[in-house]
Amino acid sequence: MANKVFTWLDERLGLSTIYSLTLDRKVPKVNWWFTLGSASLFLFIIQGLTGIFLTVYYVPSPDRAYDSIQYIMNGVAFGWLVRGIHHWGASLMVFFVFIHMLRTFMFGAYKYPRELTWVTGVVLLLATLGMGFTGYLLPWNQRAYWATTVGTEIAGTVPFIGPFITAALRGGSDLSGVTLARFFAVHIWFLPAVIVAMIGVHIYLVIRLGIAGIPEKDD
Ligand code: HEM
Repeated sequence: MANKVFTWLDERLGLSTIYSLTLDRKVPKVNWWFTLGSASLFLFIIQGLTGIFLTVYYVPSPDRAYDSIQYIMNGVAFGWLVRGIHHWGASLMVFFVFIHMLRTFMFGAYKYPRELTWVTGVVLLLATLGMGFTGYLLPWNQRAYWATTVGTEIAGTVPFIGPFITAALRGGSDLSGVTLARFFAVHIWFLPAVIVAMIGVHIYLVIRLGIAGIPEKDD
């Protein structure tokens, strides 16, 4: 029965062709260091799923944000678990993306013809850090407020355009409901869209070019 359903779907969707093009590929000898990109991808999916559930109860307004988080922690069934996974997953994702980058650097995997894999990776690293920065403000507690005050102040030290960056991030001269609204928008729409698009190109390139493999002594 399952076989029949699969054949029916395969004839129409070309599932086995998709499988052989994307997953059933020849790879050189690899080791555990080559799993870090997939670990980053897995964590991004977990962050996306838990984030979607959090938006069901989270309210991005200055008078409700803090209370909505308290409600997620104490009133919603398994809310503490979903938030906990999202919280720790964020740090884990930054960690894994970073050591994945170090791995590809140490193995020279950024060299010809994989320069664009590296460039899309740099965008992914920056977007991942941006997710951490914008997400940190959302609980709207003292720590979030002052950390973002300091963070946006630091952005202001960029020569010439610094004050403009600070004002653009804050949506005014100080942190306010405007800041919370734009950090929320960037956290749940802008940056995830960038990350999804970049992961698409990144993985397309990995499939197209193949894995670089462990470098030889004289490479
Ligand atoms: C959300 C972040 C990222 C995801 C989901 C991701 C995903 C992946 C996956 C699944 C692979 C293939 C398996 C592997 O080598 O681990 C890969 C390869 C690669 N990644 Fe990433 N990556 C991310 C960030 C980065 C960053 C920050 C860089 C560098 C700046 C980077 C550079 C590369 C390179 C050069 C390869 C090719 C490796 C090879 O051919 O051996 N990636 N990535």
